Amino acid sequence: MAKLTFDFNNATAGMVGDHGFTEEEIAKANDMLAGAHRAVNGRQMGFRLLPNGQEDILQDIIDTGASIRSAYDNFVVLGIGGSALGPISVGHALSYGRHGINFFVEDNVDPERLTRLFDTIDIGRTMFNVITKSGKTSETMAQLMCVADRLQKKGLALREHIVATTDEKNGNLIRIAKEEHLKTFVIPAGVGGRFSELCPVGLLPAAVCGLDIRAMLAGAAYMDAVCGREENNPAALYALLHVLGISKGINISVMMPYADSLKYMADWYAQLWAESLGKRFDRDGREVNTGQTPVGALGVTDQHSQIQLYTEGPYDKIITFLKVGSFRCDLDIPAAFPYVEDIAYLGGKTFGALLEAERSATEYALLRAGRPNITITMDDVSEYTVGALLHFFEMATAYAGEMLGIDAFDQPGVEEGKLATFALMGKSGFEEKKAEMDAQTPKKSEWIIE
Ligand code: PA5
Repeated sequence: MAKLTFDFNNATAGMVGDHGFTEEEIAKANDMLAGAHRAVNGRQMGFRLLPNGQEDILQDIIDTGASIRSAYDNFVVLGIGGSALGPISVGHALSYGRHGINFFVEDNVDPERLTRLFDTIDIGRTMFNVITKSGKTSETMAQLMCVADRLQKKGLALREHIVATTDEKNGNLIRIAKEEHLKTFVIPAGVGGRFSELCPVGLLPAAVCGLDIRAMLAGAAYMDAVCGREENNPAALYALLHVLGISKGINISVMMPYADSLKYMADWYAQLWAESLGKRFDRDGREVNTGQTPVGALGVTDQHSQIQLYTEGPYDKIITFLKVGSFRCDLDIPAAFPYVEDIAYLGGKTFGALLEAERSATEYALLRAGRPNITITMDDVSEYTVGALLHFFEMATAYAGEMLGIDAFDQPGVEEGKLATFALMGKSGFEEKKAEMDAQTPKKSEWIIE
């Protein structure tokens, strides 16, 4: 069975020197590690029930996915944040070589982008999947209202073109879904947006794309066992090194996949790490203003942009490489232009070999420059390993949250923005918030330049 391998060597002081982690530092953090282990494995965490706890709905998801794929040309997810980044990253990682339906995720309300979507698709041949846990996010509801209006104007039944994924009881979407008799999948109560890719939020889009969702969950189950271990636990160690890093000024976590298919995993990770760990207060109500800024980079593309900063700039980063053991296909580099000796070394190799040589070379350059880095190797990019990778990062985030003493599962900063949007858009009940916003110190014209 394919697996994930975690190499933490280059994060140690023995390898990268002063800015790496010493054995003493890690040993001293043993109590913190043990406490986090107790909390993560003692507390009921909704996302941990997903790998093994959804047997009752899987067949329905698989059948619904198959019937959408055979009856429609387009499948469009309407959602944002945790209700979109999972489908985007998984769709991008695993759609290689699969056909049958055009797959879109609309995670913005940019009018130009939505107009382009409607110009591109025939909505009569489209199934929309509206995903919102709260059932009331402005962006998603606006998209749904727009889609419903267009379907109705064409005389098309909403229930033939919209599937809802939302909370069982709360929010506007469940109300609309019941009223309009929409096929509905439930987001389990204890599963928050950014931890929801392995519930119907991500499983239905994956099933529509023809992916093996049982294999995704099996990969997550394998990783749940690995990351529940008391010893040799890669998620706990990943979290520990990142959390210890914060106290050493390592305030940036770079995620750098060396595979185009994993490009959006970096975006998904960025949301998970930022929204879960970026917190003002700890669990005891103390103001801590903690967190670590996630940054995405793509190998090899960003070797020619960001790596200069990573090797010579401030010592404020820990870099994670995502390495793929075996690509789904490879391509030879032909021995063309034999009269140009300078490029002869490339001829007869493969692009896969070049990509891995570049990754290895970057790892070496970072090592020489004393920059801590970690390599996660996926044997391949498959449903199983992608499910495992997602669950690994969710577990690492849960451990990091416990080590930082914060609640990794709420998002008060995001909620504040949502409420302010309600106020600005004139939602009733938000008059006070609007007045509070209006009472802000007015902007000074001398700071505005035309
Ligand atoms: O992770 C989260 O909780 C957020 O990013 C949400 O997913 C995002 O705000 C969208 O919320 P909802 O699914 O309620 O529309």
